[in-house]
Amino acid sequence: SSADLKQILTFCIDLAREAGKTILKGSEAILSTASDDVEEKKNSVDLVTEYDRQVEALVRDKIKQSYPDYAFVGEEETSALGTLPPLTDGPTFCVDPIDGTTNFIHGFPYVCISIGLVYKKRAVLGVIYNPMLDWLYYGVESQGSYLLKSSSSAPLKLPLAYPRHLPSLSNALIAVEWGSDRTADSTRAKSESFARLAGDGRDGQVKGGVMAHSLRSVGSAALNFAAVASGSLDLYWEIGCWPWDVAAGIVIAQEAGGLVSTSDLSLQGGEVTGDSSDTILTGRKYVVIRGIADTPNEKGGD
Ligand code: IPD
Repeated sequence: SSADLKQILTFCIDLAREAGKTILKGSEAILSTASDDVEEKKNSVDLVTEYDRQVEALVRDKIKQSYPDYAFVGEEETSALGTLPPLTDGPTFCVDPIDGTTNFIHGFPYVCISIGLVYKKRAVLGVIYNPMLDWLYYGVESQGSYLLKSSSSAPLKLPLAYPRHLPSLSNALIAVEWGSDRTADSTRAKSESFARLAGDGRDGQVKGGVMAHSLRSVGSAALNFAAVASGSLDLYWEIGCWPWDVAAGIVIAQEAGGLVSTSDLSLQGGEVTGDSSDTILTGRKYVVIRGIADTPNEKGGD
């Protein structure tokens, strides 16, 4: 019910802020010590630190205390298991304790905790908190999404919505990510898609080129969603996201008036499937998207 969601939201906001303190402490520690705190997961660009695990344990324990009947899917626990158990229809918290781990390790301030609540495979509540900037985004199904921003005078609560009309994809600022799959096929397909988004398509120069204003790759799936929700990015496209990367972002973007789908538009509505081979696309509702995605796992279509 909406009363339950309200209570869960307060809980998640407090939890995200508490986790944020550990992330900040971890950031200071990691930047002042040698990099042997960093471990590789499936390859040398898929990284984890003891702070990812610490934050996840903190969040999992608090959730288990307050919502013992809810399922919990955390990035680090799942990576350690080596497999993602199928998502059920029951209420499920999907948590990325540190989204943007690579940024965290390098001291690049696009780092957040992402807490999403999924029910019947739909994202219904999300909190994304960047402790470096002290920006907290949240959204609840049918209740809108907001950014709570600290400022020198008073805290700001900004409703998220697109500030201006986007006439075409050529006027867009677009987020893409390299992700951690750097195999030859994947890297080539991504590069070609990026080239089409950025390249000049006139006079047959770059086939299908839309020459968007520019591309950004800030290294956090959740913060890409948040930026799309606040209108500072117009579109975000990535292949290979997991539920903890996207659950919170989906509801925040949708509540701001955005569309979430796979890039062949087969998964309208951003159903959380747990299949990381799906591409994820979020952006403004009425942009026509052509020829962006051409990846090994892509299902084809405009
Ligand atoms: C990753 C980041 C990155 C995205 C990857 C994610 P992590 O999450 O969001 O931007 O490209 O798909 O897995 O490993 O930093 O939690």
